Amino acid sequence: MTAVRGEERYRRIVESIDRLPSLPAVAGRLIDVVNSPDSSADDAAELIEKDPALTSKLLRLANSAFYGMPRTISSVSSAVVILGFNTIRSVALSASIMKMFPGKGAGAAFDHARFWRHSIVSAMIARSIARRLFNFMMIDPESAFCAGILHDIGRLIFAQFAPEDCGSACEYAKANSVPLVDAESAVMGITHARIGSILADKWALPPDLESALVFHHDPGHAPSGKELVSVVHLADTVCHAASVDLWEGEAAPRPWDGVREYLRIGDDDYAALQEEAAKSIERSDEFFSIIG
Ligand SMILES: [Fe+2]
Ligand SMILES: [Fe+2]
Repeated sequence: MTAVRGEERYRRIVESIDRLPSLPAVAGRLIDVVNSPDSSADDAAELIEKDPALTSKLLRLANSAFYGMPRTISSVSSAVVILGFNTIRSVALSASIMKMFPGKGAGAAFDHARFWRHSIVSAMIARSIARRLFNFMMIDPESAFCAGILHDIGRLIFAQFAPEDCGSACEYAKANSVPLVDAESAVMGITHARIGSILADKWALPPDLESALVFHHDPGHAPSGKELVSVVHLADTVCHAASVDLWEGEAAPRPWDGVREYLRIGDDDYAALQEEAAKSIERSDEFFSIIG
């Protein structure tokens, strides 16, 4: 019976995702521009400038303490050159998603601002981990940022399209002191990771990003892109350890045992990352107030 209810619920959520609009043209085309080796900064700038709201958000963010640039960035093209294609892609995607899911009707159990804080700090920590790996593993830090910011996007879908179930899953997790991902399986028969993959398909996100959404709780089983998935997984773990989570006392998802060894993150590195996560909260709130 539970399985049947789970399937029905799953079908309804998939239909809701199906009815979602495609990514706004600018964000969708930016993904293509970023993926194409022939693209130039001017191509990206030209696209962004077609969207005045995005242009102003991008310039405000580029000049905010979030990036802490030493001089004023006054044009979109210099923002693209200085911040990089992948950063621009993250900003455009985040702005589109925040606009599409403004948090209304998500149900009292879902703390929208706290969700984005967890996502943004995870992104900052994922970027920081990627930078530390440069000696032996090439992961673009801005791709890590993008994967980090989107990793729990399935939760936003649950909150929007299945607010009661989402609330029950939160209650179940709290009552049984289990990670929310386990509560989702128990209550809904599906997890936010699976839902993230359906959204990634719908929006034609690049495969490395899709893999990070699907396997961020289980990087050991990622069939491809294991490096990026592991970085996001560790960033998520660090955030939970630093209490950058969805509610006070949320049980942390089970970490993959091999992740720190795989990424060569020792105890000192881990402690430094945890401290960085706690310190990043203020900057993440700034990102949210400008982009959201
Ligand atoms: Fe997650
Ligand atoms: Fe997470």
